[in-house]
Amino acid sequence: MKVDITGGSLIWLESTESTNDHALALARDGAPSGTVVAADAQTAGRGRLGRSWVSPPGLNLYFSIILRPELSARAIPLITLMCAVEAAGALRNVTEAEVKLKWPNDLLLDGRKLGGILVESHMKGSQVEFAVAGIGINVNCRKQDFITPEVKAIATSLFMASGRKHHRAPLLKGVAEGVIKGAGALAQGGADGKDEMLALWKVMDATLGRRVRAGDPGSEHEGEAIDLDPDGRLLVRKDSGEVVKVVTGDVVFL
Ligand code: BTN
Repeated sequence: MKVDITGGSLIWLESTESTNDHALALARDGAPSGTVVAADAQTAGRGRLGRSWVSPPGLNLYFSIILRPELSARAIPLITLMCAVEAAGALRNVTEAEVKLKWPNDLLLDGRKLGGILVESHMKGSQVEFAVAGIGINVNCRKQDFITPEVKAIATSLFMASGRKHHRAPLLKGVAEGVIKGAGALAQGGADGKDEMLALWKVMDATLGRRVRAGDPGSEHEGEAIDLDPDGRLLVRKDSGEVVKVVTGDVVFL
């Protein structure tokens, strides 16, 4: 695929194990910020929390963007949220689909999972040396392409939701350019940049106000998702009234 990406450059692969692994190796070798590694298929695509990401050829988008934002470790959760905000915004612009956000990394359409984000970062001291933002978007796949019953039960694609096929190139360009720009704004905008990004999240949010079970397996909290704090943590009000801050893990809607 040939795509000109403003502020970045694209490496297109027919197939790779995981675009995140490919991009991490390039980043360790010094590849510049804005380098995008995309593949038609992945043989070992990875999701968050050790899950696999089904990545058949010819249908969807699987890509990873090398970012070198000047941010501290504390801001790493915000990188994931920024990627979700930019991806949803670009998908809305290009397709007019009303894509929504489920904390911390899910793109939803009609309440089903349209895409996901896996950010993996490398630190130098207390600063981010580089982050690789891996993004998977279900574009033209059909239900049978999801393979497992678990994924079939929760996932959708732009094709499944709209009944029409979508070109992948403009989606890749829109999302990649948005993420590259968003990383700059997050790093250079200070507290205002973060607030602006969190405000955009809230416009597209599908999590707040819902009853949820949230957190890492074994340390989950049940209650109402009430807000995001300035560091991007999810605030959950338990039935006891106590408000807990969820830093990592998953959200299940109850
Ligand atoms: C999730 O929802 O758990 C995150 C899914 C991230 C999948 C993408 S596809 C491109 C990149 N390469 C990977 O191996 N994973 C990410």
